[in-house]
Amino acid sequence: MTGVVGPAMIAALPPHVRLLLLTDGKRISRVLHVLAELGIADELADGPLAVTELAARTDTHADSLGRVLRVAAAFGLFEEQEDGRYRLTDLSEALRSDVPGSQRDMVLYNGTEMLWRSYGSLMHTVRTGRPAFENAYGHGFFEHLERHPEAGALFDRAMTGMSRATARMLLDSYDFGRFGRIADVGGGRGHFLSEVLARHPHARGTLIDRPSVTEEAPKLFGDAGVADRVDVVPGDFFQKLPKGHDAYVLKAVLHDWDDERAASILGRVREALEGDPDGRLLICEFLIGPANQWDRGKLLDLDMLVRFGGRERGGDQWRALLETAGFELVNDPVPGRWAVLECRAVPGDR
Ligand SMILES: C[S@@+](CC[C@H](N)C(=O)[O-])C[C@H]1O[C@@H](n2cnc3c(N)ncnc32)[C@H](O)[C@@H]1O
Repeated sequence: MTGVVGPAMIAALPPHVRLLLLTDGKRISRVLHVLAELGIADELADGPLAVTELAARTDTHADSLGRVLRVAAAFGLFEEQEDGRYRLTDLSEALRSDVPGSQRDMVLYNGTEMLWRSYGSLMHTVRTGRPAFENAYGHGFFEHLERHPEAGALFDRAMTGMSRATARMLLDSYDFGRFGRIADVGGGRGHFLSEVLARHPHARGTLIDRPSVTEEAPKLFGDAGVADRVDVVPGDFFQKLPKGHDAYVLKAVLHDWDDERAASILGRVREALEGDPDGRLLICEFLIGPANQWDRGKLLDLDMLVRFGGRERGGDQWRALLETAGFELVNDPVPGRWAVLECRAVPGDR
């Protein structure tokens, strides 16, 4: 069988070959990571290049680089021309660092030792239910990011990249313009909030995140032209949150935490919404889809498990968590994709 490895070709492979392909995932992912780190896609942006030229530009060993590129071309990541030069494909376009929708930082983050050492301890998690990350490093994930600023910066860039990819979809599917004052809690460097404010010029926003993360935010808000409508509040979402907002966004935050910790973050939002029956909690997360179907949320769920003991959740799990924390779901989000869960506080004491 010849041709680039793709879904149709994979489905046509005999089961034992498909099984081996699955176990090859780590090898393939290393190929992708090395090529991303070397910036090969950026080198090819102006046109095809020979391996020797790529090796000279990236200070690498030409024969070894050529063999790595040959694997990448088998997956359609690059294409080897008849003259032996390599060129970009639609897949590697997204590996460039300077294009809208670039996935380079996410690929770099996925290839970091901190992620792979966690997966190396997956058996520990499966036996104990405890996060593999703590077993591998002896401390928690976010503490690790504080101790290793470079790792923290890469994680933040990868999250910003993910946020860029999902922000438009969320903004198209839900009207954030209903709200005049929006707090983005655990909002990272503020990319999502800047997109919300850019689309809704009447709205004001507050960004809340760990101090080491928010210090990067003013530049991002400045570049987006919304800095005059944002307050940046370094803080801890396990402590009191600022009141006075019509909507509190938690985007890709609650999946980092187990139900107990997630409920305490929700408790802080509930406190902040006290006295405002029209106020809303807007949870933006990937909703796990039906069984026996591929959705990336099922894999990300394992990331949450090994890194923090967190989880991606399906509709029923969200409803149960919300009920525990004194909220109810107002809308009916679609599973198997990113969704906005609109929630209101249920009146009464908690
Ligand atoms: C997975 S990231 C999501 C970031 C952003 N909402 C987005 O969608 O790109 C989780 C965020 O929670 C923040 N975070 C973790 N612990 C926190 C805490 N105790 N208080 C405030 N923010 C925290 C992290 O710094 C990080 O920015």
